[in-house]
Amino acid sequence: MERHESNSELPVERQHEDCLSRSTQERCPVNFSVAVVLPAAGSGERTGLSTPKQFCKILGRPLISYTIHAFERVCWIDSIVVVVAKESHDMMADILHKYNHTKVKLVEGGPTRHRSILNGLLAFSETGVGPKLQKPKVVIIHDAVRPFLEEDFLLKITLAAKERGASGAARPLVSTVVAATAGGYLDYCLERAKYRASETPQGFIYDIIYQAYQQCSEAEFKFGTECLDLALQHCGTSAQLIEGPPTLWKVTHKQDLASAEATIKESLSQSACIISGECTETHDLSTCMKSWLTAAGMRVDAIPNTERSMTLSASRNVIKLSVNSSDFAEIREIMKRCEESKDFLLYPVIILWVFLNVSDQVTLRQENDEASTIMNLAEEAKKINIFLYGVQLSYSKVSTQWERTVNRLCQLTMALIRDRNDAFTGQMLQA
Ligand code: CTP
Ligand code: MG
Repeated sequence: MERHESNSELPVERQHEDCLSRSTQERCPVNFSVAVVLPAAGSGERTGLSTPKQFCKILGRPLISYTIHAFERVCWIDSIVVVVAKESHDMMADILHKYNHTKVKLVEGGPTRHRSILNGLLAFSETGVGPKLQKPKVVIIHDAVRPFLEEDFLLKITLAAKERGASGAARPLVSTVVAATAGGYLDYCLERAKYRASETPQGFIYDIIYQAYQQCSEAEFKFGTECLDLALQHCGTSAQLIEGPPTLWKVTHKQDLASAEATIKESLSQSACIISGECTETHDLSTCMKSWLTAAGMRVDAIPNTERSMTLSASRNVIKLSVNSSDFAEIREIMKRCEESKDFLLYPVIILWVFLNVSDQVTLRQENDEASTIMNLAEEAKKINIFLYGVQLSYSKVSTQWERTVNRLCQLTMALIRDRNDAFTGQMLQA
C-alpha cells in the first residue's frame, strides 16, 4: 500500500501534530487500509442560516475544508469520500480544487444521514454505481461538521475498530437526560454517570458496517441516528467506546461557528517570528518584544533577516521591524516566502510591519508615504491570504516612556494576531 511521504504543510503552531505524523510514518502503526466517509449532505436547519453549516466560512475557508484537512494530513489514510447533496456538488468540487484536497472523492447524499453514509460506503462496493475505490479494511465515519480531530485519537479509534469490529468516540454527558410524558411532564431521569454522548469519529471493519446497512429497515434509515447501534443490532458487533477529547464537538447552532473560529484563531496565535534587521535599535526592540510575548505565552523566534526561510515559512505570524525608512523589498520577500509555503491558502498569515522612528527627522510626507505604501501592499497581500498591518512608534530615551510604548506595541501585536481581523489590514496604527 502506498504511504504518503510528507506532512510539511502543517503550520508551526501544530508542530506537535507534525511530529506525531512523522513518528507515525517511521513506525507506521497501521498496516491495513483505512478510508474515511464524511457525511456532508445535511441542510443545517438548526443554525437558522441559508448556507448549510459545512460550507460556512471560517477565516475565509469553508468549515468542511478544515475537516478534510484533518484527515488528509494523516499519512495512513488512503481515501476520503465526501457525501454532499446534489445541488452542492459543484461548490464542493470548487472547494476541493481551491484547497488542493487530493485524497477526496465526491458522492451524492441521501435524504437522511444514514442514507448519506450508505451512499458513501457504496463508493467502495461493487454493487454501487459509478467508479469504485479500493475497499478498505477499516472505514472511519465522521461528521463533516466536527473539524477538530487529532491524529492520535483517530489512531485509537482505527486500531480498536480493527480489533473489535467497531469503535466510537464517547463523551461524558453535560446535562442529565430526562424523558417527558406526552403532556410535557417529567416521566423519568437517566442516571447521568451511567450514560455517554456518542460522537464521531466511529470506526468499523468495512464488511461489518456494510452488512449492517444492507439489513437496515426503512424506519432505521428514516429515524435512526447511530451507526454503532446498526453494527450491534444487525451484526452482533458491540463497539468499543473510547472517551474522546472535548474538541470533538459538532457545529450544530449558529454560535458554534463563532466558537470554531475562536478555536482556530487560538491555535494560530501560539507562535511568532520577529525579523529585526541588523541595526541596534531594532535588535533591542526585538529583544523587548520577544520577552513580552514569551511571557504572554507565545513561542517567539527572533531572527535578524528573512534568510532563515524554514522558520519563516512555518510561522503564521511574522513581525518585521524597520527603522524610519520602509523595507519595502523585504516585506515583498516575506510575502513571497509565505506564498511558497504549501499551506498558504489554508490559514491566513499575519505580517505586522513595525516602523520605529529613531530620530525627529521623520516628515509628515514620509509618514503619508508609508501609510499609502502599506495600504496598497495590503490589498495585494490579501489576495494571497496574508493580512498586513502597520504600526508606528517613536524611540524615547526616557526609559519609562519607552517601556510604555513597547508595552502598547506588544498589546497591539497580540490583539492583531489573536483577532486576525481583515478589516484592519492596510492600516497604519500608532503605538
Ligand atoms: N448529513 C448528511 N445527510 C443528511 C443529513 C445529515 O450527510 N441527509 C450530515 C450533515 O451534513 C452533518 C452530519 O450528517 O455533517 C451530522 O448531522 P447534523 O449535525 O444533524 O447536520 P444537519 O442535518 O445538516 O443539521 P440539522 O439537523 O440542524 O438540519
Ligand atoms: Mg440533522
